[in-house]
Amino acid sequence: MFMKFTATLFLATAFLCACSSPLFPSAQDRYFAMHVKPVLEGSCLRCHSGPASPAGLDLSHRDGALKPLSPRTKRPFVIPGDPDDSLIVAAITRKGTHPKIMPRLEVSLTDDEIGGLSEWIEDGAYWPEGSAGHLHAVYNAENP
Ligand code: HEC
Repeated sequence: MFMKFTATLFLATAFLCACSSPLFPSAQDRYFAMHVKPVLEGSCLRCHSGPASPAGLDLSHRDGALKPLSPRTKRPFVIPGDPDDSLIVAAITRKGTHPKIMPRLEVSLTDDEIGGLSEWIEDGAYWPEGSAGHLHAVYNAENP
């Protein structure tokens, strides 16, 4: 009986580990890779990356994105579960009191991109561990 329980526990643990490994990305990992990473990499990281990031907001890794407080509001830029009060959403939807329109004055994110980031925050702003969570600026035809 005890052995059976231990075996079940072992299998369950092995299963959980396999699911959260890069070989079997979770739904949250896939969502981040599809709807969050490309937007941040293409539209934000050219400025918001590294120790000298504007407004102290470094979007290239989890702690840089989720930990700092806005110097203006003294609140986090991303409030998991609350996109309406997250400064990031205010900045990209032009609702902020901030005079600048992110990402650049003349280019806005598409509705799909804004919706993707809002939903990500609403669902808890999951940010993956390891290399999947280390982002780099991307420049291409869409993001010159
Ligand atoms: C071309 C450079 C540039 C890009 C690209 C850019 N930002 Fe910014 N961002 C800035 C600067 C500069 C500031 C600080 C402005 C200030 O304090 O006057 C800022 C400030 C912010 C703030 C703080 C606003 C506030 O009200 O305090 C947020 C949030 C933000 N950016 C989010 C983003 C997001 C999300 C993206 C990508 C979709 C992005 N930015 C892309 C330059 C950029």
